[in-house]
Amino acid sequence: MPSTVILDNPLDMHLHLRDGEMLQHIAEESAHTFSGAVVMPNLVPPVSSKEDVIAYRTRIMEAIGNETFEPYMTLFFKPGYDKAFLESVRDRIHAIKLYPAGITTNSEGGVSGFNVEELRPALEAMSALNIPLCIHGETNGFVMDREAEFVSIYETLAEAFPSLKIIMEHITTKESVAALDRFENLYATITLHHLIITLDDVAGGMLQPHLFCKPIAKRPEDKEALLEVALDAHPKVMFGSDSAPHPRHAKEACGCAAGVFTAPIALQVLTELFEKHGRLENLQNFISGNARKIYGIIPPAKKVILEKKPFKVPGDYNGVVPMFAGEEIAYSVKGVTHG
Ligand code: DOR
Ligand code: ZN
Repeated sequence: MPSTVILDNPLDMHLHLRDGEMLQHIAEESAHTFSGAVVMPNLVPPVSSKEDVIAYRTRIMEAIGNETFEPYMTLFFKPGYDKAFLESVRDRIHAIKLYPAGITTNSEGGVSGFNVEELRPALEAMSALNIPLCIHGETNGFVMDREAEFVSIYETLAEAFPSLKIIMEHITTKESVAALDRFENLYATITLHHLIITLDDVAGGMLQPHLFCKPIAKRPEDKEALLEVALDAHPKVMFGSDSAPHPRHAKEACGCAAGVFTAPIALQVLTELFEKHGRLENLQNFISGNARKIYGIIPPAKKVILEKKPFKVPGDYNGVVPMFAGEEIAYSVKGVTHG
């Protein structure tokens, strides 16, 4: 009998579900095995009004059909959000996502410069309403240094708004890991791919466009620092896949779009990784328990049964190439039960 691992209510705390045809094609890949996901707002145009949030959630619910899955909606941060607006939208959202302007896919309308006084009214209102602030933490500096340079901005914000929950999204560096324990109100999501690859895997040999993402994968010592807190299920870190599908032609192109598509294989590969390191007992908290506490959410009940049986990853899912395409991974999803 192959050994099995059961995960309760897996949560993906950073997910790109896209819209239109892409949403129809990929929603199922998350909705089948996850209980819920924090859905990123970087659509074109971004999700930035109450009507946008309501309409996008409706389109997601239609796309997932009969699956039990909660999309935790977010707004795209604008410095002009005032208290009255935030109060009106509070019960529809679980977080607000801040992008530095132009830093990644569809982030042109983000924040330029980080002037605390300019941000103060919106961030104080978010603190008062207990709305977490999720941040894509990169400067416009040299690509390998962008995240480390952003740590001082995290620190300024964490000090200026001590009651605001700040979530450092998809951290990739040892500097971000170190910042976690310096400020009570800093938290982080960690992707699957940043626990597995370094820049060498992206560009050390022949260029691998399907591993190209923002923030770009860093050095071995950064990966080790991320692995340590993930495998420990450090209480301030959560799994957030940053699964970011792009059609094959946008990846295998001169001018490759950033994003790694991991939704269909994330749970299987995380199980393999935690098992390999002898830390399977911590996977439940990394994949769900920590996020429940940090976000104060009660996800819909779902049990995912993973079995140690090789699974050959398809070459593509409706034209989107996943991580490990065509390769064999050690675990398969045996079944999913609800309730
Ligand atoms: O690689 C990435 N892809 N990083 C991001 O921050 C955005 C994402 C996307 O939306 O494609
Ligand atoms: Zn993202």
